[in-house]
Amino acid sequence: MSGINYSEKIPNNVNLSSDRALQRALEHWQPNYLKWWQEMGPESSQNFDVYLRTAVSVQPDGWAHFDHVKMPDYRWGIFLAPQDGNRKVHFGENIGKDVWQEAPGEYRANLRRIIVTQGDTEPASVEQQRHLGLTAPSQYDLRNLFQVNVEEGRHLWAMVYLLHRYFGRDGREEADALLQRNSGDEDSPRILGAFNEKTPDWLAFFMFTYFTDRDGKFQLCALAESAFDPLARTTKFMLTEEAHHMFVGESGVSRVLQRTAEVMNELKTDNPAAVRAAGVIDLPTIQRYLNFHYSVTIDLFGADQSSNAAIFYSSGLKGRYEEGKRTDDHMLKNDTYTVLEVANGQMRDIEVPMLNALNEVLRDDFIKDSMAGVGRWNKVLEKNGIAFRLQVPHKAFNRQIGTLAGIKVSPQGEVLTDEQWKAHEREWLPTAEDRAFVASLMGRVVEPGKFANWIAPPVIGVNRQPLNFDYVRFN
Ligand SMILES: [Fe+2]
Ligand SMILES: [Fe+2]
Repeated sequence: MSGINYSEKIPNNVNLSSDRALQRALEHWQPNYLKWWQEMGPESSQNFDVYLRTAVSVQPDGWAHFDHVKMPDYRWGIFLAPQDGNRKVHFGENIGKDVWQEAPGEYRANLRRIIVTQGDTEPASVEQQRHLGLTAPSQYDLRNLFQVNVEEGRHLWAMVYLLHRYFGRDGREEADALLQRNSGDEDSPRILGAFNEKTPDWLAFFMFTYFTDRDGKFQLCALAESAFDPLARTTKFMLTEEAHHMFVGESGVSRVLQRTAEVMNELKTDNPAAVRAAGVIDLPTIQRYLNFHYSVTIDLFGADQSSNAAIFYSSGLKGRYEEGKRTDDHMLKNDTYTVLEVANGQMRDIEVPMLNALNEVLRDDFIKDSMAGVGRWNKVLEKNGIAFRLQVPHKAFNRQIGTLAGIKVSPQGEVLTDEQWKAHEREWLPTAEDRAFVASLMGRVVEPGKFANWIAPPVIGVNRQPLNFDYVRFN
């Protein structure tokens, strides 16, 4: 079951050749995907040989294979975690029944919507990151960017397989549309706000992979609990890839902080202008980038109170993070949860039925997980004897979705007037000047083992290769 068949046009472990119609439909979609990759994927990179990892099995050690590959030749395929024949629905109204191997008619529209929404984010991030290769701070980083990109491409394949296999003609149309919407496109944008933002520089990329790929982790974890077994098995395997994306973000920001701290110590200064003059990114700018990516990302969890969230849970389509480890009744009919409400311009806590607050539950789990890594970033500053600490802003800060969209709130959580907000916005969110400064540092470094001045080298290379390994051959 776990073996992957690489002899077929579309590598897979789902016995694709036994379903000729499905195989043909996917082989028909494949050239459109490659066309999209050529047009919207990493710019001017088609001929590079990149040291990429490819899945050889879906077991935890299945990542053993690393090789130089041209990205358009990457073996994008369909990999599902092994089926557990005894799996039962473990939450919601259908609890205790066998999980579904086909999409039940009554849940079909909602399942399709969930899969399309997830699927839309995957190619979106590739589009957002498509220019970054031109300004990579090292071969090591360039290779990591491309690894993330090919895996997001594979995540798209994962969702497209589900659409083709389980949703008939509607599913095939949705699969085509996933290649037609584009990030930031005025006429046909990607579905979710954060995936229409720009990722213009490498600090933005590291913040994106730390925060926004972590949203991916939490969404995938919730879907890995699904009673629709093919969705659960697909997302389980996607999670093993997602872990690498978050590593790229966390270690990337750590290395930026390390380098900035070194320069601050050399110059014995914490003056942002002096730090910038030395060609590294000052800590207040890093904080503003953090504030932006964090607030845009927590919007992705949706409205704080949502009847759709309740329906998705009660019908078994989407669970909570680590549903199986929780000790409540997994029905939640009598439970409540605390959410923020805005009344007369003020925020206050209110108790609401938990079923309606499941977006908020997932958002709060995400926030906890995010804060842990920010704590690790602060350790880098602490070790270097720097007093500055990064902070995660209040969850009502800069929100565009849900109840909190209506008010202006400082990173510390004080409700502000529009005038107060305007007076301080430049301290809290990246300004055009900040972005221009960061952009001015972005110059391509291609010599093996060399790193741009604004970022420290990593502790260890990819797959234990030395730092001066040729991770990318430019040909
Ligand atoms: Fe993804
Ligand atoms: Fe990702």
